[in-house]
Order: sequence, then structure tokens, then C-alpha cells
Amino acid sequence: MFYPDEIIQEVRAQNDIVDVAAAYVPLRNRGGRHWGLCPFHQENTPSFTVNGDTQFFHCFGCGAGGNVITFVMRIEHMDFVDALKLLADRVHFILPQPGESQAERAKHAEKAQAAEYNKAAARFYYEQLQASNAFASEAREYLKSRGVNQKIQALFGLGLSPPGWDGLLKHLTSSGTGETTPADLHKAGLLSMSHKEGNRYYDRFRERLMFPIIDPAKRVVGFGGRIMRETADEAKYLNSPETSLFNKSGLLYALNLARKTRAKELIIVEGYMDVIALFKAGFTNAVGVLGTALTTRHVQLLRRNGCETALLLLDSDDAGTAAALKSIPLLLEGGLRVKVLQVPDAKDPDEFLQKFGAQRLGSLLSDAKSHIAFQVGLAQKKYDMDKTEDRIRFTEEAAALLATISSEIETDAYVQETARASQIAPPAIFAEIHKQRGKINADGGQAPMRQLRLNLRRSSEDPGLREARKQLLCLALTHPPAARALASSGFLAPEEMGNEVLSQMLDMVYRNIFPAPADIVSRFETAEAQQQAAEVFIKPIAYSTTLEMEKSLNEMAVIIKRAYIDAQIESFGLKNDLNAVNSLVLSKKNLQSQYITLSNG
Ligand code: UTP
Ligand code: MN
Repeated sequence: MFYPDEIIQEVRAQNDIVDVAAAYVPLRNRGGRHWGLCPFHQENTPSFTVNGDTQFFHCFGCGAGGNVITFVMRIEHMDFVDALKLLADRVHFILPQPGESQAERAKHAEKAQAAEYNKAAARFYYEQLQASNAFASEAREYLKSRGVNQKIQALFGLGLSPPGWDGLLKHLTSSGTGETTPADLHKAGLLSMSHKEGNRYYDRFRERLMFPIIDPAKRVVGFGGRIMRETADEAKYLNSPETSLFNKSGLLYALNLARKTRAKELIIVEGYMDVIALFKAGFTNAVGVLGTALTTRHVQLLRRNGCETALLLLDSDDAGTAAALKSIPLLLEGGLRVKVLQVPDAKDPDEFLQKFGAQRLGSLLSDAKSHIAFQVGLAQKKYDMDKTEDRIRFTEEAAALLATISSEIETDAYVQETARASQIAPPAIFAEIHKQRGKINADGGQAPMRQLRLNLRRSSEDPGLREARKQLLCLALTHPPAARALASSGFLAPEEMGNEVLSQMLDMVYRNIFPAPADIVSRFETAEAQQQAAEVFIKPIAYSTTLEMEKSLNEMAVIIKRAYIDAQIESFGLKNDLNAVNSLVLSKKNLQSQYITLSNG
């Protein structure tokens, strides 16, 4: 789904960022900018600024920034399209139907219809749980026995699917205008089909406690259903089948509720009942995976909903440990901080709460350790610290883990802990970490391109280089003559900018696209990308002469090019490809002989 750029620009232009931000943050005008307390981090003195001229916001404390759409996305935890809709509504601008192909439109319509059927089903199940019959009261007793009270039942919209084969089918096809067919309900995941005696539809969920699954857009997308008396031949939980609407690897149970807390830390658990028990105990920032492994889509979903730290609170068995170990790298790659906790003396958080109560869990949660400590702890369990040989092995394994930490302070803290556990002196552990870091960098298993990207990403941490990339783009995107000169020189390729956002911006320069800076930002869909794009325009250098501009353009281009060549040299060097390295070294020497000339005009 997309809107044409002109529409996005129009909506942005009609919403002055100063007015929009002032509705959320008290602002004071000082020195041409509006200042306030940053809504995106905790602070006591204002470092959040809104600039009416550039139509950007920027926080000097936490670095948050972007245009008015970014602001709404971040403060309302919305995606791009929803933020755009909110802003359009605000100024009574009627958005056209977003651009969709015929097929896309049909798919959207089908999804919306399926969500309606699921909502109607949720209502039916909810009523069934309140009904006055023996089965319903048995179900209510069951919930009571598990500590689920009326309030929690209502919050989660819990329900009951009745015994029999067609309770839901009859209810949904007979009520109303009779337009709903069993085939529609089957597509929506609510009915199953038997092929035995001709095609026969029947209720997919029967005699189960029903847990509606609601996505962040508040649509009922599916259900989990639990049997109340466990038997060997029936799955304890049955989920909706995978449909256009219901895709387990892109959904998190209770995210619709947890996102409302605006917590930066979300607790991730394995079971429906764990989520429910946590909410009841007051931990309303919990979400559940739906009986599947965590995926990158889950990670994106977490991030889009404001999560910065994921606290994995998985089952206390080996499967839970294995799931944590698999999830950690995904979460880290997604840019989240990761903590891990497994509760002692209980198989899962639900049981822990039943046995020991909310206060005990609260203190465990606030002491939850980083993923590194968790992994070091697991390593420690494998070894006997009374044996010299084992102490050495353990220390090596711990050092390999600690080698992945980028913060020196954090590394130091863990080295002290490892030293205490292993009785091996910190300098020896540091030396081992150093060695392991060398190994990670020299990992021959990585393809050159991947290695190159890693090197480039690391090089992006060099402030001088970062500044050169930003200033070059700022210049090129706001001075068409500079853009033309850069484009015709062919000196830099978009991928040399080190990351996706900056690369796309250079690509715009090359394709002659020059909207206002605040509109360039709207071309990126995530708040994070928008922030990166906005940073390009935060502190433009003021050039007094064309010659000065030209010199600066060349300096910046050379810095960027050199870093790119260095990254290439490093990755080819690791592959022992000496020919490639030599020619790269040569091209680096030749850099000084190239010069981009700015024509006047
Ligand atoms: P658990 O068996 O740990 O369930 O499975 P639980 O939530 O603790 O359930 P209670 O406490 O016995 O009621 C964890 C999750 O795995 C999925 C469900 O999402 C469940 O919440 N699962 C489990 C299934 O999808 N199917 C199953 O048969 C079992
Ligand atoms: Mn359980």
C-alpha cells in the first residue's frame, strides 16, 4: 500500500511540526527554535527542539529526530501509513485510495472480511463462556482454578467454543442477512472441511477455551484454543490455520495490549497463560510467541512498537533454554538489547506466579541479566570449577562470548565476574578476549560481501567519516550544481555510503530527485530510517564561496572513498586475494589526482 509522493508532501506541508509537537510537548521559543522536554527519553532540562523553518525536530540528548510524520510515528507508535492518516485527519485532508493493484485490493478486502468474521466469532465465543449451562460453568470453574478472574477474562476477551460440530457455523451463517457462506468462514480459518461425504464444513474449534489473537491494528486475526481436560490424543492448544490474515511468525499474543504501556522493555514468554498470568500480576508489558520460534518478523514487530529491550522469559526447561539461544542473535541483529531470565523452581512464569507471587517475580525481572551473562552462566554449568582443565575451558568459552561486546565498560564488568568464577586473573582473560576478537574479524567463513558490509558498518562508527557522508549528502541534496558535478564525476557509488538510508539518498541525487529535506525524510518508512535521513540536514555547513564548497565536496568525497577502499582491502586481505589488494592500494594512491569541479550556476 502506498501513497503518491505529492500526497505525502501535501499532508506534511499542511501539518506544521511546531503545532503538532506542541500538542504533545510543552514548547518554549528560544533563539528561533522551540524547546521542550524530550518525549523520547527521560530528562529534566530541555534538549528537544523543533524547528519551524526546516520542519524538523531533533533531540540533542537522545538523538531522536525527523519530520512531522516521524514525530507522530514515534510518539503514537504508529507505522507510516497510520501516522499519515492521523495527520491528514488533523487538517481534514481527504486521502485518496492508496495506490493498489487490483489483486492487492482484492487481497485487502478479503483480509478485512476475514477479520470481521473472526471478530464475530470472538463475540460468539465470549457469550458462550458467560452462558448458563453446565459446560460453560465448568469452563468458568477451570479459569477460576487457574486464577483468571472476570476482569482478566474481559481484558483478553476469553471465550469458549461449545461442544458439537456446528455451533459457530450455524450462528454466523443464520444470523443477519444470510450472506455469509461456510466457504467464507473456512477461508477465515474458522471452519474445517471434511472430504469424506462430499465437502462438509464443521467448526474448527470445539470444546475449547478460546484466546482471541488481536493484532496491533486491533483486528481479531485468529484464535488459540485450549482443551480443559488434557488427553494423549488431542493437542493441548489448537491455533487458527495459516491464512491471509493469520501468520504465526508475524504475530505476538497481547501486543495490542502491551504496546499501550509504551514500555521500552517488553517481556517475551512462550505461553498464552504466561502472558495472562503476567498481566494479572501487573506486568502489562508482556507478549507471547504463538507456539513457534521467534523470527525476524517478530523482531521488526517489537521494534515498530517501541521496544528497545527484549526480556526473554522462557520456560525453565532445556527447550526454553534452546529457544532463548536461538532468539538472542535475531534480537541483537535487529538492534535490540537482550536480557534473559528463567524462573527457578517452576516450569514457566505462570507456575512461578502461582507458587511465589508477583513480588518475587518483580525482583527477578528487575535483576534479569544480559544475554551475555546468561550464556556465560550456561557455559559455567558445563564445567567443574575445581578442575584446572575445566576452569581453562570455561574461561576460553566465556572469552569468546565477551569478545562480541563492543562496550569496554561492559566487557570489564563481565571479565571481573568471569575471573571470580574461574579463579583466572583478569589480564589473562583480557588477552584471550583480544585473541578471540582477532578470530572473529578473520573469520574466513564469511563471504567477502558480507565481510565488506560488516567492515563498512564498523567504519560508520568513525565520527569523521559519518560527518563526511552526511555533509556530502546535505550539500548534494540542497545544491543542484553540486549534485550534478558529483553525478557526472561518477566518483562515488550509492553503496559506498555505508548504510541503506544514506545509499538511497545518494541514489536520489543521481536520479535528480530534490524534494524539500523534510519530504526526503518521508520517503523512508521506519522512524529509525527517517531519523537517519533527517540527521543529514541537521547542521548544514554554510559555505561563503563556490570554491570553498568545491574544496569541501572533494575532501568529503575522498574521505568516503578512502574508507570504502579500506573496507574492501580488509575483506580481500582476509581472503588472501593479493591481486585485488594491490590494485585497491593503487587506486587509493590515485585518489588525490582526481578532482570534482563545480561549475558556477
Ligand atoms: P505450553 O504447553 O507451555 O503452554 O505451550 P502454556 O501456555 O504454559 O499452557 P498451560 O499453562 O498448560 O495452559 C506454550 C505455547 O505453545 C503453544 C501455545 O501457544 C502455548 O501457549 N502450543 C502448545 C501449541 O500451539 N500447541 C500445543 O499443543 C501446545
Ligand atoms: Mn503453562
